[in-house]
Amino acid sequence: MILQTFVEIPALDAFRLSLFSAGKKLAFVPTMGALHEGHISLVKQARQNADAVIASIFVNPSQFGPGEDFNRYPRTLTEDAARLAEAGCDAVFLPNLVTIYPDNFQTWVRNEVLENDLCGASRPGHFRGVLTVVLKLLNLVRPDVALFGKKDYQQWRLIEKMVDDLNVPVKILGGETVREPDGLAMSSRNRYLQDGERPAAVAISRGLKAALEKFRSGELKVQVLLDLASKEFAAQPTIKVEYLAICEQASLAPVKESISGAAVILVAARLGELRLIDNMELNPVG
Ligand code: PAJ
Repeated sequence: MILQTFVEIPALDAFRLSLFSAGKKLAFVPTMGALHEGHISLVKQARQNADAVIASIFVNPSQFGPGEDFNRYPRTLTEDAARLAEAGCDAVFLPNLVTIYPDNFQTWVRNEVLENDLCGASRPGHFRGVLTVVLKLLNLVRPDVALFGKKDYQQWRLIEKMVDDLNVPVKILGGETVREPDGLAMSSRNRYLQDGERPAAVAISRGLKAALEKFRSGELKVQVLLDLASKEFAAQPTIKVEYLAICEQASLAPVKESISGAAVILVAARLGELRLIDNMELNPVG
């Protein structure tokens, strides 16, 4: 498959208009590059939901905090383009910084309720950057469907909420988290893992899995499930848990005492320099 590449808006517009006039549906997968199987699974899911698929690669400075890894975020464009083409992606949008943030850019999108919870608590401004760039990309690409990974659960829910609150004419789909064989959720940042840190990294998903299995066997008490997960994390002294919570899936409101509807267990932890996040849905059976 030949991958069309657009850097400037007029070229993107021409692609979009050709699909409009042919009555074809477009699916969109926004990314920051350094693509792995998690991203590729979204491209494949996109293919099943539309006639054409476009991805974007843009390392968005506004979602990185001052001490974060914007400058050293992995940039692997050649490999990324090959992987996209192989996965059946039709086009990729690679906007320049000034296309997204022209001089005198002033308008930001915020969710004033959820932006400071969970990941937002330790990454002030992060979701403001994410929501703003995603809204801009949606306005530029004008897809029928856009796909986001459940790996970044809060991001996915915040984007759904933005689209709903602001009447953005796009359907948002969530993709399941793709994991390494040992359970570690795939992430562009996993390449920063030092030798010897892997067992601790793997304990993150193992802790969530322990809670999920207990939940499936009928345990509904939040504290019992959190304690089970915490026990796995505590066995790895290098893990510094930032938060561990059980929340309602849609609203991300914390579940108190006992689970009664669709819930999700979420964790963020530091492992040396690296910050890892993961989650698993706790879906009621029957
Ligand atoms: P990035 O981290 O590149 O992720 C792009 C998309 O891939 C996101 O929707 C993310 O949730 C999804 N993804 C990442 N790892 C995954 C995994 N292991 N399994 C399934 N999906 C996975 O998320 C961003 O970029 C940015 O915040 C962005 C939305 C592009 C805005 O800048």
